[in-house]
Amino acid sequence: MRPRNVVLIGFMGAGKTVVGRALATHLDFRLFDTDAMVVEEAGMEIPEIWATEGEPGFRAREEKVVLRACAGSGHVIACGGGAILSMKNYGVLKGAGPIVYLRAPADVLRARVDIGGEGRPLLPDDAAFGRLLVERVPIYESAADLTIDADAGTPEQLASLIEQRVSDLPERPDRTIRL
Ligand code: S3P
Repeated sequence: MRPRNVVLIGFMGAGKTVVGRALATHLDFRLFDTDAMVVEEAGMEIPEIWATEGEPGFRAREEKVVLRACAGSGHVIACGGGAILSMKNYGVLKGAGPIVYLRAPADVLRARVDIGGEGRPLLPDDAAFGRLLVERVPIYESAADLTIDADAGTPEQLASLIEQRVSDLPERPDRTIRL
């Protein structure tokens, strides 16, 4: 069964955007990248949003775009690494389609993200990286319907694997309560 949408979650540097782009091509879906949507809507880059509105401002914008990204079908939704942490986003994303966790070992992530760089307000140093990873991994694991090793192949190969594996997932029962 083809899913209605596919949601990609995972830590910063896992490759959600790149794999999401390849997956959207494979499925002939449209890519919704929540970070890109926030930046476009705010007219500011992420560090600027963080500096002017703080993390609460960024998260409020993220919740708005997650709602937009999940409306309709035929979407690959590449989430910013913290999007799934909000209970509101969690419910919306869970309802949108299967959640795929792009898992990567710490050393792979560490090499991909610019720790201490201007673009990474949440990662001022290696200790922050470690703390956040330990805090987040169980959340990604429990939210996921499917886990894919992000370092197991090229974005193209990962996209093929995800396409195949999401089609094998049982359809989620409709839990809507009708009065
Ligand atoms: C964040 C991850 C970033 C971006 C923001 C916060 C997070 O997205 O949304 O800097 O809380 O993990 P990527 O995971 O796409 O880098």
